[in-house]
Amino acid sequence: MSTGSRRFNRRSFLQTTSAAAAVFTIVPRHVFGAEGQPAANDKLNIAGIGVGGQGEGDIQAVSSQNIVALCDVDSQRAAKSFERNPGAKKYTDFRKMLDEMDKQIDAVVIATPDHTHAVATIAAMKRGKHVYCEKPLAHSIYEVRQIQKVARECKVITQLGNQGHSSDSIRTFCEWIWAGTIGKVTEVHACCDAFKDVYCQVRNLSRRGEVHQVPATFDWDLWLGPVAQRAYNPMYAPWNWRGWLPFGTGALGDWICHVVDPVFWALDLGAPSRITAEVMNYDPVAQSEVYPEGAQITFEFAARGERGPVKLVWYDGNKTAPHPADLEADRNPPTVGAVVYGDKGTITYGSHGAGGVRLVPEAKMKDFKAPEQKLPRVPGHHQDWLNAIREGRPAGSNFEYGGALSELGLLGVIAIKFPGKSLEWDGAKMQFTNCEEANKMITPTFREGWSV
Ligand SMILES: NC(=O)c1ccc[n+]([C@@H]2O[C@H](COP(=O)([O-])OP(=O)(O)OC[C@H]3O[C@@H](n4cnc5c(N)ncnc54)[C@H](O)[C@@H]3O)[C@@H](O)[C@H]2O)c1
Repeated sequence: MSTGSRRFNRRSFLQTTSAAAAVFTIVPRHVFGAEGQPAANDKLNIAGIGVGGQGEGDIQAVSSQNIVALCDVDSQRAAKSFERNPGAKKYTDFRKMLDEMDKQIDAVVIATPDHTHAVATIAAMKRGKHVYCEKPLAHSIYEVRQIQKVARECKVITQLGNQGHSSDSIRTFCEWIWAGTIGKVTEVHACCDAFKDVYCQVRNLSRRGEVHQVPATFDWDLWLGPVAQRAYNPMYAPWNWRGWLPFGTGALGDWICHVVDPVFWALDLGAPSRITAEVMNYDPVAQSEVYPEGAQITFEFAARGERGPVKLVWYDGNKTAPHPADLEADRNPPTVGAVVYGDKGTITYGSHGAGGVRLVPEAKMKDFKAPEQKLPRVPGHHQDWLNAIREGRPAGSNFEYGGALSELGLLGVIAIKFPGKSLEWDGAKMQFTNCEEANKMITPTFREGWSV
């Protein structure tokens, strides 16, 4: 993470862009001040929503700026962030924070569980705040589209929290693919076998009736936000909510923005036209609440531009990808990562921006002369967002890109409810063309007062 807060003023701001006129529409308020005057200092005023867990690291990563407000529904979970930022005003309800500190806040970092991304992100953007939101962008496809619409209308600078997107390795991977290193890519196997016990909560379904006292330091009602009321249980929060489908998106939604990002970018995948899931030990009652113990989900992408059709097969939990033919028998393929098959070769990579990207077998890698670097490298994911705000340009994984990437996971979470059925998807119309039951899962039911 780059720490330097670049000195800049109105003049240097304009010099950084070749299209100054266009930039006036998205200039952040703090640069020119509310009355069009330069701001007193060059740092952004940042607020955090959900600052325990991953949010703690996200706030640290933007701590070169002024952290003016922090909001968390659990003062225990947020304790470290609260202590580290004594000058920040503390809140439990982000709506109150945005109301009271509207004039002071320039940008917001959001790292709540998936089911509250949309309400928090949209509330912040409607007030003109730039937003960094953790992945996946939202909990449902409808919410993703709403977020994208509001981001466009409010002309704010956005970044999804798939930090691998700002790595050197993802750029290396794109350059290899674009140089034709493995020829035409036809198939990708992506996988994640991490945290199996967290994603598969089938064993805990019977515990929903337990009675637990809500800790005095925790606001359960605000944690639920848009989701229907249910009894508090510490098995949901923190962290384990990701295996419970009313709140999280399972192994698929949690990892696809890290693992599939490189091929999504390099192959310009866009929306799939067909999604088919195979689910281990499928149980329709269980799967309305929890992610299964293993899923294999095939996404088919029609030909686009110069590339032909691509098949992406996702494996998680106890479903594992086949050993790639080009990989030596005594070497293991990635367990969190992908194998990319072209008509002239095979590439393997790990998670978070194609970490450890390699041609296989090793003999091919040894002889390989990498193509020239084409993509500029960036100084870190949070810094890319901060720089983008200053420069009035989209950040690398802005909500147009990051939203489309997140949708893949959300489509897969719908597909696991219809195992064995090929769902035909019309991304532009936001509808399945052959399954009315699946269409009902595109838009969630919001608890009163929480719709977006
Ligand atoms: N980019 C990454 O590598 C990465 C890694 C882990 C998690 N994440 C993402 O970060 C997000 C949070 O995950 P986590 O593992 O930190 O979860 P967590 O449950 O450990 O932490 C979430 C934090 O948000 C707070 N919170 C919950 N609802 C809130 C609300 N309505 N308002 C304010 N605060 C609220 C919680 O109290 C807690 O402090 C998820 O979207 C997850 O996918 C990203």
